[in-house]
Amino acid sequence: MTLNVGVIGTGNIGADHVRRLASQVSGAGVTAVFDIATERAAEIAEGVGAVAHGSWTALVDDLDVEAIVIASPGPLHAEQVLACIEAGKPVLCEKPLATTGEDSIKVMEAEVAFGRRLVQVGFMRRYDRAYRVVKGAIDDASIGEPLLAHMVHRNASVPHTFTSAMVMTDSVIHEIDTARWLFDQEVVATTVVAGRPSPQAVAGVRDPQLVLFELADGVVVDVEVFLNCQYGYDVRCEVVGSMGTVSMDNPSTNSLRRNGQRIESVPADWRVRFNTAYLDELQDWVDGLATGVVRGPSAWDGYAAAVVANCAVHALAEGARTKVTLVDRPSLYA
Ligand code: NAI
Repeated sequence: MTLNVGVIGTGNIGADHVRRLASQVSGAGVTAVFDIATERAAEIAEGVGAVAHGSWTALVDDLDVEAIVIASPGPLHAEQVLACIEAGKPVLCEKPLATTGEDSIKVMEAEVAFGRRLVQVGFMRRYDRAYRVVKGAIDDASIGEPLLAHMVHRNASVPHTFTSAMVMTDSVIHEIDTARWLFDQEVVATTVVAGRPSPQAVAGVRDPQLVLFELADGVVVDVEVFLNCQYGYDVRCEVVGSMGTVSMDNPSTNSLRRNGQRIESVPADWRVRFNTAYLDELQDWVDGLATGVVRGPSAWDGYAAAVVANCAVHALAEGARTKVTLVDRPSLYA
């Protein structure tokens, strides 16, 4: 059986998802796309034999579309996810689920009223094999009791439209979800320090920043986020436990030894680093839906991450440790 998927937003990651769903994910095909960049959408649709709709609402209403991937800009996600829930269609929404906690709550309320899970959020690091090794070492206590984690999130550069708030809501949101998932704990407080900005940072954007997350069980996570590091996409993590540590560097590549140097490459961007994770994420989503189940990161995960990201934005603006307050977790997300 083939799951007919519609994709809203065919920019960077949307176009990649169309390609994966059409040619690499088994049990799925792309039957419809929509993007306000209509020419590009039409070209992408033609490439995979899909229809290019005139609006995203037409795609949601399309009776041939059984499930939807949202890869439009973040501020549009909540409204589009709500429409998918109203239509009773499963939806894989790229992060963020919503830009505010309030909008995420609306999504959870609609899903709870629907009565079963329809929403998955695109926190694909949970599918990354290297991160899974880290989680395994925490879960089986190979490193004893987890105490601390150090994380690094560096991009070569980001678009000039990037703002200081997006450092949290678009980039560090991955570390927020990673920390919640690795330690199975909520974040209870955050502190952010932004020092001297890089000369390559967009004017007015605080880059780099150091972020601290305190988890409910006392584990502390620090994140260096640096979005204009120039040299590549460098995502790393080390968890310190009472009996040892587990760390994750860039996946190993060939190295060149010459002229007294050892040279290794760093992934160019997130596409290169997480290509397999995106594929595994989509395959798991499609496999789950074949049995009627949505089992990936939930609207609750999207909500919690959005609240923490906004607390971090506040923490930087106020220069103060900011406590995180979440609503009670609905039983649908137990
Ligand atoms: P992008 O700017 O390349 O693509 C967004 C697309 O949405 C554009 O083609 C734009 O024309 C289209 N669009 C604008 N208004 C629209 C509307 N009303 N309805 C439908 N489409 C509309 O951005 P990119 O990098 O592809 O990011 C898209 C989303 O995916 C963002 O939320 C971003 O945070 C997320 N993302 C997630 C990643 C991950 O690692 N999970 C990696 C990259 C992006």
